[in-house]
Amino acid sequence: MSETHNMRRIYVFDTTLRDGEQSPGCTMNLRDKLLVAEHLEALRVDVIEAGFAIASSGDFEAIRAIAGVVKNASVASLCRALPKDIDCAWESVRGAKNPRIHTFIATSPIHMEFKLKMRPDDVYAQAVAMVKYARNLCGDVEFSLEDCSRSERPFIYRVVEGVIAAGAKTVNVPDTVGYAVPEQYGQMIADILANVPNISQARISVHCHNDLGLATANSLAAIKAGADQVECTVNGIGERAGNTALEEVVMALHTRREFFQAETGIDTTKIYSTSRCVTNVTGSKVQANKAIVGENAFAHEAGIHQHGVLANPLTYEIMTPESIGLPRNKMVLGKHSGRHAFESRLQELGFHLDAARITELFAKFKDLADRKKTVGDADIEALAHDIQTMVVEHVKLDRFNVLASNAITPVSTIRLNRDGKLIEQVAASDGPINASFKAISQILGVKVQLETFQLTAITGGADAQCEATVRVRDGMRVFHGRGISTDVIEASILAYLQALNVLLDEDANKK
Ligand code: KIV
Ligand code: ZN
Repeated sequence: MSETHNMRRIYVFDTTLRDGEQSPGCTMNLRDKLLVAEHLEALRVDVIEAGFAIASSGDFEAIRAIAGVVKNASVASLCRALPKDIDCAWESVRGAKNPRIHTFIATSPIHMEFKLKMRPDDVYAQAVAMVKYARNLCGDVEFSLEDCSRSERPFIYRVVEGVIAAGAKTVNVPDTVGYAVPEQYGQMIADILANVPNISQARISVHCHNDLGLATANSLAAIKAGADQVECTVNGIGERAGNTALEEVVMALHTRREFFQAETGIDTTKIYSTSRCVTNVTGSKVQANKAIVGENAFAHEAGIHQHGVLANPLTYEIMTPESIGLPRNKMVLGKHSGRHAFESRLQELGFHLDAARITELFAKFKDLADRKKTVGDADIEALAHDIQTMVVEHVKLDRFNVLASNAITPVSTIRLNRDGKLIEQVAASDGPINASFKAISQILGVKVQLETFQLTAITGGADAQCEATVRVRDGMRVFHGRGISTDVIEASILAYLQALNVLLDEDANKK
């Protein structure tokens, strides 16, 4: 394979924290978002879309905090094409080193008639006026024609030309509803390039949803046709079936760069740790056979494949696990492992912790290694994640006792330590876990709705650690918690307590 040096540069616009976070089940709190932003910087994405500022004060604060820490990437804030939205977006992002306002309005006949109840001429005028308005605030403005793939060509050309003349530096042409197919979407890009006279003054961006499982294929077809920027999310999280997966589009360009004659600025060796970070903070797991980052993506099960890979990895491997930051030969860690081996494994998994936290974590690791023969990556990630997100523990589990059988109503006795004071409560329910949650809620005097509850064995074997994840709702607020233990009831209690600790912390910070 010969290298060529005339590669087009494709800009990677990551919207994990906006379009990704917008999807049910992927809500993140401020700490989580900052952690993801840190990984996105290390991954070297070009733009981090940090949120939709006017959507909530939580979103606004998160964008502001991210804008304050990101050094290299541009930080974008999304807003409708309305003055008050644009003002709010600007306020949220103005502290960034490279701020971007990303404003949008729908251009398809169905959206204009039924959602906006506006005539095309008025949509055009508003788009142009709002880009001018935004440009008066910020030097870098991106404009999106929402539902562009179902919009009419002459209207697309007119709007694109108008917003570029008004100062938009990037024009995004989304497949908002995941309706496009690759050939057609690529043709749309080619047509825009051929029919918009001032197109050379802006970058064309593509943004695809995965309703038909075509988001990556559509994005690649658009890049092949001349698009300069691709919008995507880590693990492909996002509205409905999700967005274009960053890892897929980046690795397709990396692996087939000769074909695409294009490259990104991404450090692909940070893909795996970023994917794990997003899984950890959202609790939204990727399927085992997910391209690039799924558990089986680099596993060769069949004998004939294993034989071939041992003889020469290229027989069945089109890319190496190392290229995404997944070590091929993992050292087995156990109770005899030293701090050095543990620390380097942590780094490979993408955790960059200070010495004090590593010491704390190493003690927990030793404790676990005493109970388990070998400690796997998933065990380490689970321990490290909790330390990294630093949930303030307003209440701690002191002890629990459950009485359960198929002949009685299960009863749980929970004793919590709240600021040094021990408080005990007994509750009965249809299951021991439910009874425990009920007792905890009664002690803390909080009434939350349990939205999801998941139990997973992190590693195989009889001594497997179990991971419990919960999502609870308090009105408009959603909180995640996870707990790890070799005991399923303890893991569940710890997960529920973690979610409530985040809630208590948020309430305490409001005062
Ligand atoms: O899918 C979409 O159209 C969007 C825009 C707001 C960019 O997310
Ligand atoms: Zn979208």
